[in-house]
Amino acid sequence: MQSKSTATKSFTAQSEEHQGIHVAIIMDGNGRWAARRGLPRLAGHRAGVAAVRRTVEHAPDLSIGRLTLYAFSSDNWRRPADEVQGIFWLLRAYLRLEPDRLKQQGTRLEVIGRRDRLSKQLRHEIERAECATSKGRNLHLRVAIDYSSRDAITRAAVGASRNLSRDRPPSEELLGRMLAETLTAECGEVDLLIRTGGEKRLSDFLLWESAYAELHFTDRMWPDFDAADLEAALQEFSRRERRFGGVPGAAGQSDAVDGGCAMIAPGSRPFKVKFSAK
Ligand code: FPP
Repeated sequence: MQSKSTATKSFTAQSEEHQGIHVAIIMDGNGRWAARRGLPRLAGHRAGVAAVRRTVEHAPDLSIGRLTLYAFSSDNWRRPADEVQGIFWLLRAYLRLEPDRLKQQGTRLEVIGRRDRLSKQLRHEIERAECATSKGRNLHLRVAIDYSSRDAITRAAVGASRNLSRDRPPSEELLGRMLAETLTAECGEVDLLIRTGGEKRLSDFLLWESAYAELHFTDRMWPDFDAADLEAALQEFSRRERRFGGVPGAAGQSDAVDGGCAMIAPGSRPFKVKFSAK
């Protein structure tokens, strides 16, 4: 658990709003959680929604300003139809019922991923929830639905190519900058990526944005993930030394804080957040 002292560390920030670290979570283990209890897989996903609610509520207390949750990957379409239907039923319910609570918490909800393969009804719920919560300033919550990072990078490249001269190939530097701007425009880079459920892989989630993310893998199944687990992940993160390919103490890169050396991502604007104990 977090020590009683208040630790201060430097992270990357995207905008004046939603300041604080960007945490991304691969919410794995719902099916196994249910199987261990002799329940259908959907019961695990339902319990997973409760874990989402707990995490979203607790995030701002831990200086999390941006939170991206992997709810449904583009590869998850391969699951049995009844499970896919069940997950979408839960997602629709969440998008319909949660905005009031999110608004009260000052949370802005955004859905990332492809929308063209979603039902009209779900697209409608997404637009309504995004609109209803658009003024939230405490937390920028992104829910990834029908999301594939490779697909997002490919689309960003196609978008960039439309803005470039047909006669001359762009420099790598320019293309890289255009892709970075597209992919990190809304939420910046990921500071900490958490995966529950004991597996250690990225599963096509935020590959570009997580280039320098700290990784935290836990055996905890997602439905059991609670405030203490989130705090433990943040605690571990706060002890990591981020070097972004540099060396500690190099001019312009390091920012010694609390005896540690917190590094600032190249090209990003440094700012300090308070990571305080409850
Ligand atoms: C992975 O566990 C989980 C999913 C594919 C679905 C996640 C969905 C939710 C948590 C519910 C809805 C989310 C929101 C944001 C309201 P798994 O089924 O692969 O677990 P397993 O590896 O144990 O089989």
